[in-house]
Amino acid sequence: MMKSIEKSPLQVSRSLYHPKMPKALSGSVAVKEGNATESVANQQEIKELFPNTYGMPIITLEPASEKVIAPAINVGVILSGGQAPGGHNVISGLFDGLKALNCASKLYGFLGGPSGLVNHEYIELTSDIVDEYRNTGGFDIIGSGRTKLEDTAQFDKGADICKKLGINAIVIIGGDDSNTNACVLAEYYAQKKTGIQVIGCPKTIDGDLKNEMIETSFGFDTACKVYSELIGNIQRDANSAKKYYHFIRLMGRSASHITLECALQSQPNVCIVSEEVEAKNQTLSDVVEHIVQVIVDRANQGLNFGTILIPEGLIEFIPAMKTLISELNDLLAHNEDFVALTTDDQKRQYVKGLLSPASTEVYRSLPKGIAKQLTLDRDPHGNVQVSLIETEKLLIEMVGMRLAQLKAAGTYKGKFSAINHFFGYEGRCAIPSNFDANYTYSLGYTASILISAGKTGYMSSVRNLTAPAEEWIAGGVPITMLMNMERRHGEMKPVIQKALVRLDGAPFKYFASKRDTWATTTSFVYPGPIQYYGPAEVCEQPTVTLKLEQAK
Ligand code: FBP
Repeated sequence: MMKSIEKSPLQVSRSLYHPKMPKALSGSVAVKEGNATESVANQQEIKELFPNTYGMPIITLEPASEKVIAPAINVGVILSGGQAPGGHNVISGLFDGLKALNCASKLYGFLGGPSGLVNHEYIELTSDIVDEYRNTGGFDIIGSGRTKLEDTAQFDKGADICKKLGINAIVIIGGDDSNTNACVLAEYYAQKKTGIQVIGCPKTIDGDLKNEMIETSFGFDTACKVYSELIGNIQRDANSAKKYYHFIRLMGRSASHITLECALQSQPNVCIVSEEVEAKNQTLSDVVEHIVQVIVDRANQGLNFGTILIPEGLIEFIPAMKTLISELNDLLAHNEDFVALTTDDQKRQYVKGLLSPASTEVYRSLPKGIAKQLTLDRDPHGNVQVSLIETEKLLIEMVGMRLAQLKAAGTYKGKFSAINHFFGYEGRCAIPSNFDANYTYSLGYTASILISAGKTGYMSSVRNLTAPAEEWIAGGVPITMLMNMERRHGEMKPVIQKALVRLDGAPFKYFASKRDTWATTTSFVYPGPIQYYGPAEVCEQPTVTLKLEQAK
C-alpha cells in the first residue's frame, strides 16, 4: 500500500495539480452559525434519538482577518463503501488543512474501511504518503470497506484506539449509510462525553446523497463522464455498423441519477428512469413495451440499431418487484435456516413457501437466474446487491420475445440483435475530473476547519458548485437534518433519506421534453474522454444535472 507507485505520464502531471478552493478557505477562516435545523421528516423521533446532535445550526465558513492559532489535533480518517473518484483528495485536503492550522497535528488513516477503527488497524498518514496520492483515483491509500458501525461494542473499541492515539476527531468519507453511521457515532461519543468529534464527507458516484446544502456527492461527476464517454463510443459504433441494439446498465444502487446524467450527456434512444417507472406504477411488461415501441418505430424507418440505458436499481422500483424484494429482505435478514440450505432448488422452495401469494407469483414468473440473484447475500446494510442482478439481460430476453411475437403477427419487420453492457467499476476509480479534484480537496479542507471549531455530527458541505471554484461556499450541515425513519432489516431505523430523481426536477423535465426526438431520430452526442488541461468549456464543466438544477 505504501510502496511508491509506478506512474503514468498523466499521473505524474496530475500530481503537480493544485486543486482550486473556495476563496474563504485560502487564509484564516471564521465559522458563522445560522439558524437551528430540523430533520427532513419524523422530527420528533429523530430528536429523541439524537438529543445531543439534533437541531444544530448550518455553518458557513468566511474569510477572517485575524490569524487563528489552533492547538495541534490528531484526526483519524475512514474511507467507507464503494470507491468514488476524489477520495484521495479529501484526504489531501484534510491533511493540508490540519497542517495549516498547526503543523504538529497528525492524521491517521484507518485501514480497510470502518473495520479499521474497530480492529485498531491504522497508519499515520505522513506527507510522503499523502503526496503519492494527490489527484489520483481509487481508495487504495488506506482501502475501504462496508462494515456497518452499529453497535456500542464497536463504538467503544473505536474510542479505545482514539484514546491511545490521542485522536480528537474521526472523519468518515462515505455515502448515505456511512454518514448515517457517522451521525450515530457522533451522538454516542457526545453522550459518553468521550471528546471525540465525528465529521462526515458526502461520497458516492450514485449522486443520491444530496439536499439543498449538499448539492452533489463527490465522484458522481467523474464517473458519469467516464460512462458517457463509453456510451458515446458505443453510439458511434452503433451508428457506423447499424446492426446492434446496445442495452447498457449503469451503476447506481437505487436512484437513477447516473443513468439520467449519462442520457443528458449522450442522448441515447431510450433511457429508463426507475423513479418514473415507480411513479407510474409500471410493470416489467410496461417497461418492455416501451422499449419495443421505440425499436418498432425505428425499424419502420429502416433503423435497426440504437442504445438503451437502464439504471442498475430498476428492478427495485417496479412496484411488484419492490414488494417482493422487501419481503425477501425481511425474510433473509439473519436467517440461518436459509443459509444452511445447500441447493438452489431447496432455496427456491423455501422462499416460495414464505412469501405472500402475490410475491410468490412474481418470484415464480422470473427467469430462475434472476430469481436466484434476488436471494444472494445482502450487503452489511441489508440492501440487495443490485449490481449483481443482470437486468439488461432480462430486458434483452423479454424484448426479443415480444419482437418475435410482433414479427409473427406481421407488425414488425426489422432485425433485432442485442449486446449487453454493464458500466460501474469502469468509473469508480477514474482519475478525478478537475471538478471532483477541486470539490473533494475543498471538502477535506472544510472538514479540518469544522474539527478545529470543535464541531461534531456535521457533514462537510461545499455549495454554489456551478460557479468557479473560488466562489464556492464552504461550511457544514448537521447530519440529523438529512435524516428520517425507514424500515431496515425489518425494523424502523433513523437513516439519511436517499435523494432520488425528482420527476418535477429540471434534469428529468428536460430529458422528458427531448426523449421522443432522441428515440426516433438518431441524435447521439459523443462526449469523448475527460480532459484535464485545456479550455474551461471542456475541462471545468460540472454535470448537466447540476447545471440544470441550478439554472436561474
Ligand atoms: P456507495 O453508495 O457505497 O458509494 O456505492 C456505490 C456503488 O458503486 C453502487 O453504485 C453499486 O450498487 C455498489 O456500490 C456496488 O458495490 P460493491 O462493489 O461493493 O458490490
